[in-house]
Amino acid sequence: MEKTTGVKILGVGRYVPELVATNDDYAKIVETSDEWITQRTGIKTRHISDGEPTYYLGAMSAKEAIENAGIAAEDIGLILVTTCTPDYFTPSTACLIQRELGVVGCPAIDLNCACSGFVYAVDMARRYLLCDDIKYVLVVAAEELSKFVDYSDRSTCILFGDAAAAVVLEKSEDTLFSSFLAADGSGAGYLASRAMLTINPFRQTDSEFDMQMPEPNKHYLLQDGKEVYKFATKAMPYAVEKACEAAGIEPDDLDAIIPHQANIRIIETAAKHLHVPIDKMVLNIADYGNTSSASIPNAFYDGIESGRIKHGDKVCFVGFGGGLTYGACIVEY
Ligand code: UT7
Repeated sequence: MEKTTGVKILGVGRYVPELVATNDDYAKIVETSDEWITQRTGIKTRHISDGEPTYYLGAMSAKEAIENAGIAAEDIGLILVTTCTPDYFTPSTACLIQRELGVVGCPAIDLNCACSGFVYAVDMARRYLLCDDIKYVLVVAAEELSKFVDYSDRSTCILFGDAAAAVVLEKSEDTLFSSFLAADGSGAGYLASRAMLTINPFRQTDSEFDMQMPEPNKHYLLQDGKEVYKFATKAMPYAVEKACEAAGIEPDDLDAIIPHQANIRIIETAAKHLHVPIDKMVLNIADYGNTSSASIPNAFYDGIESGRIKHGDKVCFVGFGGGLTYGACIVEY
């Protein structure tokens, strides 16, 4: 096992809307059933925004993480927010969260790597902590998928929920840290939500530019579930293996793997490929569904709360998602 300069997780926070939608609630709006959703995805309920915006969920989780870390918010040197479901193109969600925290000054950045966002952000946070005069980095994963879900599409709407979770990180010498990040843009069309079309008074062409993407219904999330499934079952174990290789450990040496909570069957397949028991995986998909980049820190939060994850544990965060992006990151909690 190779020790290096990594990150210490000083505090965690989580915030979810109170409103809960059960599988039976979905059966009232699309042709589906509790049995189908439970067997095919492992999801039972999701928390859904009752109007609270993405930045609000993020700010609430950040406040808890800062309090839990026992630091002053003013000492945060960088705010990194992962979201693919922001409230505005500009300002960034990071700036809105900064305003909500009442600490202005430090840089605030949004990262969009879809569901892999948290893994990318932890890696990025470490690089800032290594290079810059920054003592603490606040990473917030805030997502409100309900804004982008097409509630007439039964194959996607049943999957997604809203949540935010945050961590405060500082540099830690002589610890375990490794990461493996990757992307495969050739799969860009498999999971997409459209932004704006080109509209300006100077346009001369009527036809739309061929972006080589599927044509979505407005801005709604469009997913080729089967292709994403195939990609995920390969990408997830591969990323864990690569991160373990870089750390000089085997997957079975990990105390906990915290996977992106997209589908229980994807997680079970990954566990099989990695030759680890399923109880190595920290799961809360049944209660929250897929909350994109918030799903990994949200499961981490539950793992700590329940006592499943303890200080000193070797923990692997592993994600995959739109882009297509994927990656894993190993830390010592
Ligand atoms: O973070 C983003 C990452 N996204 C993912 O990880 C999603 C990856 N993909 C999946 O999780 C799965 O592909 C789904 C859950 C989206 C779909 O499960 P599946 O086992 O691949 O189902 P399928 O698409 O093969 O559909 C099987 C059948 C179809 O009916 P027919 O054609 O066999 O008659 C679908 O129309 O299930 C039907 N179906 C449903 N039935 C009841 C699809 N959605 C539903 C539904 N309720 N909600």
